[in-house]
Amino acid sequence: MIKLYWKNATDRIIGPEHGVTQVELASIDGRLVEAHRDIVRQCRDGTLGYAALPAHPEYASGVKKLVDKYKDCTTDMVVLGIGGSALGSTAIQAALNPATYNLMGDKARGGPRLFVLDNVDPAMVSDVMKLIGRRMKTTLVNVVSKSGETAETASQFMIFREMLRERVGDDYAGRIVATTDAEKGTLHDIAGSEGYDTLVVPGAVGGRFSVLSQVGLFSAAMCGVDIDQLLSGAEGMRQVVEAMDIMQNPACVLAALKYLMCSEKNKPVHVMMPYSNRLYMLADWYRQLWAESLGKRVNRKGDEIFSGPTPVKALGATDQHSQVQLYREGPNDKFIQFIEVKKHPASVHIPDIFSNTPGLSYLGGSNLGKLLNAEKTATEFALAESQRPSVTIHFPEINARHVGEFFYLYEFTTSLVGELLDINTYDQPAVELGKKATFSLMGREGYEKMAGKISPFRKTDKKFMA
Ligand code: PA5
Repeated sequence: MIKLYWKNATDRIIGPEHGVTQVELASIDGRLVEAHRDIVRQCRDGTLGYAALPAHPEYASGVKKLVDKYKDCTTDMVVLGIGGSALGSTAIQAALNPATYNLMGDKARGGPRLFVLDNVDPAMVSDVMKLIGRRMKTTLVNVVSKSGETAETASQFMIFREMLRERVGDDYAGRIVATTDAEKGTLHDIAGSEGYDTLVVPGAVGGRFSVLSQVGLFSAAMCGVDIDQLLSGAEGMRQVVEAMDIMQNPACVLAALKYLMCSEKNKPVHVMMPYSNRLYMLADWYRQLWAESLGKRVNRKGDEIFSGPTPVKALGATDQHSQVQLYREGPNDKFIQFIEVKKHPASVHIPDIFSNTPGLSYLGGSNLGKLLNAEKTATEFALAESQRPSVTIHFPEINARHVGEFFYLYEFTTSLVGELLDINTYDQPAVELGKKATFSLMGREGYEKMAGKISPFRKTDKKFMA
């Protein structure tokens, strides 16, 4: 299993001012036990729907049925979604397929080319439209939206549905799979009336907790990822984190450290830094999970608390040459979560060609995996020398099982930290205003009243243009 190593976040390595002490850990022990008990109860009684996903009997089989139907007749798959409806698909694909996957020939890949369009940037969307334009008959569009009305996804859906209708003709509906609420919503209704195949975002599963639902599973399975292993890894982690022994429990330890880093150590910036390009997108997924879940103005009593550490992503070793100067000598306000891979998916030998050149000879005969992991240890050491706390998530290797473990570990940890903060972890009220303002700016009926409030932001005051 993946493991959490946390000694470098403690006073034993970086001193009591910045490292968490046994006394501090003991001080929240009671609250942690209580938070853990409450979260486990909510997982078991179905309140937290994400807990049921890893072992759900029907979701994976529903996905596999559609994969059987579409895989052999699909060269390109376009996922339309944003936020929790896209980040999981991107993270799985980046972790478990080669970086060059889309560049491979149709026969060499394990499935269709995959394009996850999680923005409405016209340049990006039009680039993909041009690329797949001639292959629309073998393109599958998977539109993913729990609410079914998110403006970004809805507009993309309208564009791709029209493109399919023009190029494929009357059978266009046979090239669209809608992943949405099982019972209600605009997308649900359109899918029903137009006859699309559908997959489900379960009601009790929030968007950012939906990676292990059919939201993340479908594109993964289409592209050859072993979703049984992904789910079985998550299920294994579910069992571990639900077991009580707090100090052996990676979610409890991680939650305690993250909570104490904010409340006692003045470290509101939580960096995730994988030493693996393949795992870099896990940090993107984590950013959304963490930010939307924990960034809250009020606690459950209604008191203003403005909670939420800021999640930041960085890539090792690349960002050693960009961020680490700041992490070591800038404000001591960061908590670093490294991700390290013991056995990388490939081994690249460094040829021993400059054995008489002192500045290069030490590299010759070694390999890139060894260098990358040495760089991680070196950065961990260098940060500790500057009293900067870090933990490491150890991946024995990169496979579907460990990626599933990772997703579940961080979902459960997020729930625990939310409970310690006494906030609603599962809503996102602050996102609504921007959505409504967009509706108003785009002329949606019922949102006219907002126009007056927004109008100053539509004009540029030249006095302030430098
Ligand atoms: O976590 C969340 O709930 C959000 O990030 C949503 O996933 C995102 O806003 C997309 O929403 P929807 O799936 O309803 O289109």
